[in-house]
Amino acid sequence: MVKVDLSGAQEFFELGGPQYAKAAQAHRTLADGTGAGGEFTGWLRLPERMLQKELKPIQTAAARIRDQAEVLVVIGIGGSYLGARAAVELLHRSCKGGPEVIFLGNGLSPDAFTDALERLGERDFAINVISKSGTTLEPALAFRLLKQLAEKKYGAAARKRIYATTDANKGALRALAEQEGYERFVVPDDVGGRYSVLSAVGMLPICAAGIDGRRVLEAAVSEMRELDRRSPDNPAWQYAAARQHLYRLGKTVEVLACYEPGFRFMAEWWKQLYGESEGKNGIGIFPASVEYTADLHSMGQYIQDGPRNLMETVVHFQNSASTVPVPFAMGDPDGLNYLAGKDLGEICRSAAKAVKAAHISGGVPNIEVSVPAVNEEGFAALVCFFEMACGISGYISGVNPFDQPGVEAYKKNMFRLLGKPGC
Ligand code: PA5
Repeated sequence: MVKVDLSGAQEFFELGGPQYAKAAQAHRTLADGTGAGGEFTGWLRLPERMLQKELKPIQTAAARIRDQAEVLVVIGIGGSYLGARAAVELLHRSCKGGPEVIFLGNGLSPDAFTDALERLGERDFAINVISKSGTTLEPALAFRLLKQLAEKKYGAAARKRIYATTDANKGALRALAEQEGYERFVVPDDVGGRYSVLSAVGMLPICAAGIDGRRVLEAAVSEMRELDRRSPDNPAWQYAAARQHLYRLGKTVEVLACYEPGFRFMAEWWKQLYGESEGKNGIGIFPASVEYTADLHSMGQYIQDGPRNLMETVVHFQNSASTVPVPFAMGDPDGLNYLAGKDLGEICRSAAKAVKAAHISGGVPNIEVSVPAVNEEGFAALVCFFEMACGISGYISGVNPFDQPGVEAYKKNMFRLLGKPGC
């Protein structure tokens, strides 16, 4: 379902046998689980596993949340929240009639926390606290605060409104959930945080918000099968091979662009996926993102004319759900009658063509990734595609795409400054 168009990159290089041979080797390593971090490749089979076993209890809990809460507070950070937020924002049209979803525990700003509580107001709420380790400071602190709020409001019944997604066997959150009798969901051992959106980590908030979880997972199963093809027409090979080749040509920054504002958190999810998977051992493409056409009026200058170390990947949704024809105006006071009768989507597509040509002529190779529509299938296809391509791309570059040793450095300093016992 995902299509990759490399026509805008091929002016800069000819992708051929040697690059695809690297992609083929990386794909083999990924699929066999024989590469570095191979024990964390369970996400390759996750959609099937979820459909067989876990979707049912998730849907039951999601229905209960929809019954009991006007607001679902999702507490998590990084891989424990970005995928769910990406889905809820991209598929907001599917979320009508469900609880409002508020994301907390992804920072330490007291003002942002207070704003979220004000937004919550007096409304009934449920909490889904998500942490694989159960010890991450930001979500643990947010949960302590929200738990007390829930207990004050609902007394002993608060525990029926708290859903914990965490490790099956260990960690502080797991122990607390057992002690308090919260309904528990599992972050699988063989799936790292940034690859976990199609596990209970993403699927409980996704289903509670009103998105059709079965549609998402069924589409993911078929997309994973497609992406397992060992052939240069596999879009994951094309994308992974192209971006790694461009990196070798000095394109050290990849700008992910989309013309849908609802894509913003999908881009944040993508940045974590690629940044944390590839930025190590002194190498890695820096993942950045822009929203078009808005950012053409801010970042457009830099992309067109700044340092020539950029490549651009544009995500397209081929069909819009709505049409907005431009009306005719008597006397043409704003000079826009040349567009009268045209649909906004058609104008957007022309803008995209113009941007592509301009950026290529400015020396920015362009990769296009497209899916048919902004819907459950489109979301699932993009998740599977970017995950598969990330694993392949990471192995082509020679890193372990499934660890993140670098994120510990700041934590050590912070815990020492905060006086954590033993640090
Ligand atoms: O991808 C990752 O592993 C990280 O982004 C984690 O998901 C993030 O640090 C949160 O960790 P945890 O789920 O243990 O609270």
